[in-house]
Amino acid sequence: MAPARVTSTREAADWWRDAVIYQVYPRSFADSNGDGTGDLEGIRQRLPYLRDLGVDAVWLSPFYASPQADGGYDVADYRAVDPMFGNLLDADALIRDAHALDLRIIVDLVPNHSSDQHEWFRRAVAEGPGSPLRERYHFHPGKGEDGGLPPNDWESIFGGPAWTRLPDGEWYLHLFAPEQPDLNWEHPAVADEFRSILRFWLDMGVDGFRIDVAHGMVKAEGLPDLGGSDQLKLLGTDAMPFFDQDGVHDIYRAWRLILNEYDRDRIFVAEAWTPTVERTANYVRPDELHQAFNFQYLGAPWDAAELRAIIDSSLDAMRPVGAPATWVLSNHDVTRHATRYANPPGLGTQIRTPGDRALGLRRARAATLLMLALPGSAYIYQGEELGLPDVTDLPDDLRQDPSFFRAQGQDGFRDGCRVPIPWTREGSSYGFGDGGSWLPQPAGWGELSVEAQTGVAGSTLELYRTALAVRREQPGLGDGTDVVWHDEVPTGTLRFGRSGFACTVNTTGSAVRIATPGRVLLASSPVTAGGDEFELPADTAVWWEV
Ligand code: GLC
Repeated sequence: MAPARVTSTREAADWWRDAVIYQVYPRSFADSNGDGTGDLEGIRQRLPYLRDLGVDAVWLSPFYASPQADGGYDVADYRAVDPMFGNLLDADALIRDAHALDLRIIVDLVPNHSSDQHEWFRRAVAEGPGSPLRERYHFHPGKGEDGGLPPNDWESIFGGPAWTRLPDGEWYLHLFAPEQPDLNWEHPAVADEFRSILRFWLDMGVDGFRIDVAHGMVKAEGLPDLGGSDQLKLLGTDAMPFFDQDGVHDIYRAWRLILNEYDRDRIFVAEAWTPTVERTANYVRPDELHQAFNFQYLGAPWDAAELRAIIDSSLDAMRPVGAPATWVLSNHDVTRHATRYANPPGLGTQIRTPGDRALGLRRARAATLLMLALPGSAYIYQGEELGLPDVTDLPDDLRQDPSFFRAQGQDGFRDGCRVPIPWTREGSSYGFGDGGSWLPQPAGWGELSVEAQTGVAGSTLELYRTALAVRREQPGLGDGTDVVWHDEVPTGTLRFGRSGFACTVNTTGSAVRIATPGRVLLASSPVTAGGDEFELPADTAVWWEV
């Protein structure tokens, strides 16, 4: 049974509308058996930490049977736990213990593609052209005289053509790595299989699903050429024949009916990269999914005017469909925001330079208070509560991101945010486990550990703990679909609020004087407030009781 914890005044079934959801990347969270890789038992043992941090739910990146060609986003068996992470009994224990602590568990579902080691694909390849199993993927003859050219001009997100040719002459489609063949969602067996997989995990007791590449499953009729070069530059801004096709919404309407058969408090979260927030809103119409990640917000620079614009457009887009907005700053696919904000704007989300670390951390802390003051649901990526920077100097020969090894792909530097997190000051892999860590942790990682920050006034960990506690206690914080802006603030600053509460943010590099809104609840860097006006330091956010 799902837990009955109610945040603020919400009905339990609506818990997700203002939930704070913590993303665990299982390989890098906690290693219970000392093999250098995190596992489900490690996560289970650390659930009390997450409960004390104050989050509502935990989203687990994939832990299914997988050759790990793309960090588990290449699934060979959707109903099995990979031995590197444990087994189904461990998954069961994790779900039960989480529920006993009033934490909900959201698992990742990867429906756009399987692993090339999935039984369907292996058999399809073995049986050769004409095998009915090939219809479950996108197998096609090539173009040109000897079929030596790919069936169309699509490029893989990870770089190179989106097609690979088999020795028997046929080509298959993979929008990501060649080890991730795209499933053909026009085939009824594919739809049936995923309905069954959903039920399998719902019966295991999970509280929801994060849907990987939720915008990708349906491809434009006839797989038309895209035309032109530099296709990847169009991602996220232009309409593409393989992303965000209207037909994908039929799949989600059918899935919602399945979810509705269970307790009414389970949810779907879409990873949908679309050209506009309005297109994203289509995924969270009342009969489809519940939430969609707000990647436009994640991509915004640390700039008051730009942040305000994207906050407004996000809320405006969600209001008509009745879904809460979501807010996210980091995940396992992008350079951690403490490092993004340490660098000049405009470098995108795959950054290779550490930048000014003190500046990045200062802004990251302020950005967190801003995010947690907004109405809607917020996502926290493991380690951001420790203020971790990205590890930008990993040796190339240790990198594992498949995109790093393919020319001119998107992504490529995602290992830097996947380095196992530090729990203790000292010891093998700083408390991650007894057997080292699958990616090397940098020197000084122990000083950022949970142990080093616990109970230390002003540490980033304590800032998160306090912010989450205040968010839970303050009536209405996180609720609703509106923010009320105060326009009488200096350029580069923001002030918004709701009854009884205000948040002020200074995104500039200099202190500004502003009117004192009330009593300080929490600040991302030290402030002295008294009198009618006060000094809001550079790159700082403050929460006020008014
Ligand atoms: C999603 C995942 C990413 C993965 C890709 C292909 O974007 O977040 O990690 O590489 O899908 O599955």
